Amino acid sequence: MHIKHPSGVPLPAHQAILSQQSAVLRELFCTLRAPVGSKRKGADEQAAPRRVPLGIQEVDNGAILGFSAELSEDHPGFHDAAYKQRRVNICNLARSHRIGEPIPHISYTAEEVAVWGSALTRLEHLFQQHACKEFQRSWPLFDLRPDAVPQLEDLSQVLQGTTGFRIRPVAGLLHPRDFLNGLAFRTFHSTQYMRHSSKPDYTPEPDVIHEVIGHLPMLADPSFASLAHAIGVASLAADEEQLKHLVKLYWYTVEFGVVREGSDVKAFGAGILSSYGELQHMAAGGAEVAPLDVWQPLPKISYKDGYQKRYFALESFEAGAVELQAYCASLQAGLTDEVRRCGARQLRASPGL
Ligand SMILES: [Fe+2]
Repeated sequence: MHIKHPSGVPLPAHQAILSQQSAVLRELFCTLRAPVGSKRKGADEQAAPRRVPLGIQEVDNGAILGFSAELSEDHPGFHDAAYKQRRVNICNLARSHRIGEPIPHISYTAEEVAVWGSALTRLEHLFQQHACKEFQRSWPLFDLRPDAVPQLEDLSQVLQGTTGFRIRPVAGLLHPRDFLNGLAFRTFHSTQYMRHSSKPDYTPEPDVIHEVIGHLPMLADPSFASLAHAIGVASLAADEEQLKHLVKLYWYTVEFGVVREGSDVKAFGAGILSSYGELQHMAAGGAEVAPLDVWQPLPKISYKDGYQKRYFALESFEAGAVELQAYCASLQAGLTDEVRRCGARQLRASPGL
């Protein structure tokens, strides 16, 4: 579940996402996911066994939790018919994509390029001081420039050459299980559309700025990629309660994680690194920093109070990946032999392990 955080505004994207999608998320966090093509079971009915994907082709990228094309009333683009049509067109391209095909090329407009350039320029000057060394090491690989929005196909090829991760286009905020399952197959689901130009520092959902600037440099780092991959493999085996914990682990690492570098705390979470305001908040020591214990319950994800009040810190990505792989192994005990073998294959195929 990649969740966008706004840049430079006190109201987090996550609040907007959750407040507007509360019914969807209540269902998501409280019920078993029915197999593809079946109806959800009532509380008094026996739930059918969950279908576990054995390859990326079996991961559904169509279960979008709103924000694909139907924008909510408080969305910055709600009253902009041209923007909404643009979103529909780009989302349809993502929906038409098939595994193995090149990711659709998007001809970004001058207005979209300006939004991209503004965000990139504002964020980039903060990275040297506040982004972790792994992020800074990977950053030049993508050659991101303010005068052109990069194409996901080009970026995916860069990623594949580093950690084996690849990008799959998606129409919007994906169902958390499907999104985490994608990580098990070293696939990162990414949107391609741009936030509305009226609020260049804010988006209530994932957009190409968040995906590319926040996520991709970290996914090019082998140790971080192993950590993200371990969460994904664990999601294959997770029941609904375990999935809730994995969503929190994902949230407090991949989206809002920090890592210790000597006496300093540096950002590696995409929700921090793609948010001018959140990054400044972290840098100013505006939140508590606590060690991450993957085995212990994590606090409820907070959407309502502006920037994060607590960050969880890793001592290193290597140590974090080892812990998450151990957690993953503990969940695999409940899997069928076929799925367990699939998970083991994925782990063995992982560069950096
Ligand atoms: Fe994200």
